[in-house]
Amino acid sequence: MFNKICIIGVGLIGGSIARAAREQGLCHHIVAFGRKKGIENLRTAKRLGVIDEYYFDIERAVKNADCVIVCTPVGVIEQIFRQLKPFWNKQTIYTDAGSTKGSVIEAARTVFSKVPNNFIPAHPIAGAENSGVEASQVDLFKNKRLIVTPVNSSCPQALSKVVEFWKKIGSNISVMDVDHHDAVLAATSHLPHVIAFALVNLLGKKDQQGDVFKYAAGGFKDFTRIASSDPTMWLDICNANRKEIIPLIQQMQLELKNIEQMLDNNENQQLLETFTHAKKARQRFLNQFDNHMSQSITFNVQPGGSLRGEIRVPGDKSMSHRSIMLGSLAEGTTHVTGFLNAEDALATLQAFRAMGVEIEGPENGKVTIHGVGKHGLKEPKEPLNLGNSGTSMRLLSGLLAGQTFNSVLTGDKSLSSRPMKRVTEPLLKMGANIETQADGTAPLKITGTSSLKGIDYEMPMASAQVKSCLLLAGMYANGETTVKEPAPTRDHTERMLNGFSYPVIREGNKARINSEGKLLAVDIDVPSDISSAAFFLVGASIAPDSDITLKHVGVNPTRTGIIEILRLMGAKIEVLNERTVGGEPVADLRVVSSQLKGIEIPEELVPLAIDEFPVLFVAAACAEGETKLTGAKELRVKECDRIQVMADGLKILGVDAQATEDGMIIQGKVVDSISGGEVESHDDHRIAMSFSIAGLKATAPITINDCENVNTSFPEFRELAMKLGLKLK
Ligand code: S3P
Repeated sequence: MFNKICIIGVGLIGGSIARAAREQGLCHHIVAFGRKKGIENLRTAKRLGVIDEYYFDIERAVKNADCVIVCTPVGVIEQIFRQLKPFWNKQTIYTDAGSTKGSVIEAARTVFSKVPNNFIPAHPIAGAENSGVEASQVDLFKNKRLIVTPVNSSCPQALSKVVEFWKKIGSNISVMDVDHHDAVLAATSHLPHVIAFALVNLLGKKDQQGDVFKYAAGGFKDFTRIASSDPTMWLDICNANRKEIIPLIQQMQLELKNIEQMLDNNENQQLLETFTHAKKARQRFLNQFDNHMSQSITFNVQPGGSLRGEIRVPGDKSMSHRSIMLGSLAEGTTHVTGFLNAEDALATLQAFRAMGVEIEGPENGKVTIHGVGKHGLKEPKEPLNLGNSGTSMRLLSGLLAGQTFNSVLTGDKSLSSRPMKRVTEPLLKMGANIETQADGTAPLKITGTSSLKGIDYEMPMASAQVKSCLLLAGMYANGETTVKEPAPTRDHTERMLNGFSYPVIREGNKARINSEGKLLAVDIDVPSDISSAAFFLVGASIAPDSDITLKHVGVNPTRTGIIEILRLMGAKIEVLNERTVGGEPVADLRVVSSQLKGIEIPEELVPLAIDEFPVLFVAAACAEGETKLTGAKELRVKECDRIQVMADGLKILGVDAQATEDGMIIQGKVVDSISGGEVESHDDHRIAMSFSIAGLKATAPITINDCENVNTSFPEFRELAMKLGLKLK
């Protein structure tokens, strides 16, 4: 990537960057600039092979360098900029590794009058107990976060080169604005360091310190590890970010004061709640941390096998989203069981926490929502990041359009490319202030209003998300809102609203709502997700000698298209123990192997099986004769273009699959229907799981790349699939 890198300040961080850059082959030469006082350290750096040469003269150090990385404590960065200024080269990329960013930007402005566009501020979130170049490690930044904080004038090429450099070193990159970076770091790093220093100071001052330290065990060591960090550096950081740190110290004092009072007054219940709350919050942090640290996952499926046994797949995704939304708006406490503990549903949960709703869990599928009432949500301090979840974004857009506060909705790469005009256009008609990007995608910017008006809307496409969005907006609109659907779509919103005592009138293909109602908390039992069960409904049908039972599956008639389509293809599926749980039909599904046959899929079943087509295409590949799907254009705008991606993948696996504008034509084969091969999941959980199921009828192993997205809807997929007999690694 670079010919010559010049590191200014080769300590732990600078040394580790140099080692990693060298190991990854990112440059030819690495030199360092330092002060004469630091000669011993520079000599060590050279002796260890961390750098090729060092200089005390900055002109010589940066000469012909195409990358300069400032790794000094933040307090001296202004002085370094002054030294660099006479030799500043427009072709060179400059970056830094400072722990605070506001002060670095300010230093650049002071010296250069504006931030040079080839200086890209960055901060690797990594450290170690020891400092100095001897402590430097080649993998210090591997799987750690690296935050870049570009400014408006930053040159895009320089930014992408810095990002690429850190990616190659193994870091996970986040882009943030400068103030946000400093606020986040003050809370998660700077305050903990201050507290660790303070605690060790307190105990260290005591007369009997020898005794105290003698009995201090693992807890003390864990808690105070960071008090071993370099004091000069921390002096610098605290000074540079004092604006953010001081209010946090004050909040911490209040927190301690509260605990003191609870102890003093024997308020054990409150104390227990405080500790429990903290434990839960830490668990959430650990879960997030694990997700963030997770490596790219590749599924490898060995060919053949059969599925046998009894399982319960996780909770329904659509209902889990809605339970959080309506539970939050309800008066009273809602207890949810069977909640889907997967990324999509958690995105909704986090969004409501960010709007001030206290939500406990999920723990073993249990979530407790302390409802704030229909008008009790608070303005989120930051954009709500909804990850991969289309349902969260589209439903929330309606709900938030009717709030009096402002909000911004963002999502990941896949969600940010999905069409949002289908919700914003009717919302605009209702008087909402909502903006998409120029191409009709997220981020969505919503300006609050209290003057929505009801509309009579006929949806151009059969979409439960659009319908639900408008019904939620209708709860805040003057007059009545009516939504008419061209074909039946899932009706969980209507059912659950009624469950929460909010009136929604359903007449044929219309649903009506108005603002005269309130939600009363109710307990919700979320059944298993038929969309997750679908993988095994197909798997057990196509794999010989299979016999499985899927327990407690939601069989709402607006979701059972998969059963109907598979039955038309000759599948043997029994619906057992039908019952109603919390207003939703539930049953156990028994499936045994059968020889499927190709069919023309009736178009009216498409919306009722909309999420199940990826795996239905696998069923079609193993069926005798042709299967034709039409009227399913919507599949092109799901988490990915599911028509194209499945056709491409199936072709790689030797299947004759022709994508059409609104569907697919597949020539199924009874024998040797699927060969082995390597396919991509294209950021789409259902594609990853569908190709895994194809392994049951393959003649050679199938590799599916980038399957971490399975966590979107079905984190237990691998475990349950293996339990039933899929040979998946
Ligand atoms: C969903 C509706 C469907 C479905 C999605 C979940 C919902 O989307 O594909 O996975 O929970 O309302 P559309 O409404 O866009 O068809």
